[in-house]
Amino acid sequence: MPVEFLGIAATADGTETTARTTAAFDRDYTLRLARAHEEHGWDRVLFAYGSGAPDPAPAAAFLASRLDTLQILLAHRPNVSYPTFAAKTFATLDRISEGRLTVHFITGGSDHEQQREGDFLTKDERYARTREYIGIVKKAWTSREPFDHEGAHYRFNDFVADVFPVQQPRPGVSFGGSSAAAYAVGGAEADVYGLWGEPLARTAEQIERVKEAARAAGRSDVPRIQVAFRPIIAPTEELAWEKAHRTVDAIRARREGGELIRRGRPAGAAPENAGSQRLLEIAEAGERYDRALWTPTAAATGGSGNSNALVGTPETVAQALLDYYDLGVDILSARGYHLVDDAIDFGRYVIPIVREEVAKRDAASAAAEAARSEQAERDRHQLIAAQA
Ligand SMILES: Cc1cc2nc3c(=O)[nH]c(=O)nc-3n(C[C@H](O)[C@H](O)[C@H](O)COP(=O)(O)O)c2cc1C
Repeated sequence: MPVEFLGIAATADGTETTARTTAAFDRDYTLRLARAHEEHGWDRVLFAYGSGAPDPAPAAAFLASRLDTLQILLAHRPNVSYPTFAAKTFATLDRISEGRLTVHFITGGSDHEQQREGDFLTKDERYARTREYIGIVKKAWTSREPFDHEGAHYRFNDFVADVFPVQQPRPGVSFGGSSAAAYAVGGAEADVYGLWGEPLARTAEQIERVKEAARAAGRSDVPRIQVAFRPIIAPTEELAWEKAHRTVDAIRARREGGELIRRGRPAGAAPENAGSQRLLEIAEAGERYDRALWTPTAAATGGSGNSNALVGTPETVAQALLDYYDLGVDILSARGYHLVDDAIDFGRYVIPIVREEVAKRDAASAAAEAARSEQAERDRHQLIAAQA
């Protein structure tokens, strides 16, 4: 299976280590960052969603109209719009981008953050709503006949869209979350299941949960798995580790100085989402795992989202990513702390190694498969000859 690389689409330059110097939506920066991805071997970028952040859908339209090949993963929270409306927005974006859109449906991991935009459901209720919502969006993308809907969260009659996606039968559905409710809904509905980078054994455990949920939902396929990291690379191991320590010092300094406001939840509050709870528990249990995983960056941010680092030379980090590929991960997601420069470096020095090694693995498994079927054919001929 070819591997895919997912980077980040940001509309401003601030990160956990550096204060923002641009406006919240900076046209030039948005384009420069995306272009750095497109020109350096990345497949796709993620537009995240936050209650006060610039709306990622028009930002995605802007990029799609300026860039030729970069694909887009658009984060979307069901609470902010009606599913038929959202389906048309996505179909229009798929038209603008000529089939480069995947939608990442976000249920919301923090009550406080959800309430900022009027959503007072509990997390489990939100997951049930997300499931109903995705079902409606899929139907609106594909149904040429008007349809009615009556569910727990939405009710409408006689809807049919007049705009359909380029991708047939429909754009991809991506999903994230690490709670039981998340596995159940994502396992049933998602084409791509996104996880935050954890040690290999913990990632394997989550992949199994997603597969179990897909089987329980009666699917014959399983979602493709995506895992996200914060790579910290340098020409030598020693330099990479120095950079890693500088990175975590900068995060801690900004946090202690009150500069790093965790937008998702109130200051000092423990995370409500299982994904962040897992990251903190893993960081508590150890700093280093496997070949290159380093947890202090996750601990310093309070386990906020994609926050575990992979530290080392490009070769070490590439080999660490290949360990996840070998575990069954199809999409490798990465974001640095200096977004443009790190997207370029990762694209130049890490992506080519991973792609080359994946191509070798794929060629070896294709050769093994061909040898197996040749042997089966020989066995069949021998059996026929023996019976004759
Ligand atoms: C790859 C990935 C990207 C995500 N992007 C966002 C985002 O942009 N905005 C957001 O509020 N939540 C985002 N999330 C959070 C989840 O969609 C989900 O709401 C949360 O993890 C649910 O909590 P749970 O782990 O308890 O199930 C993302 C999660 C993943 C795995």
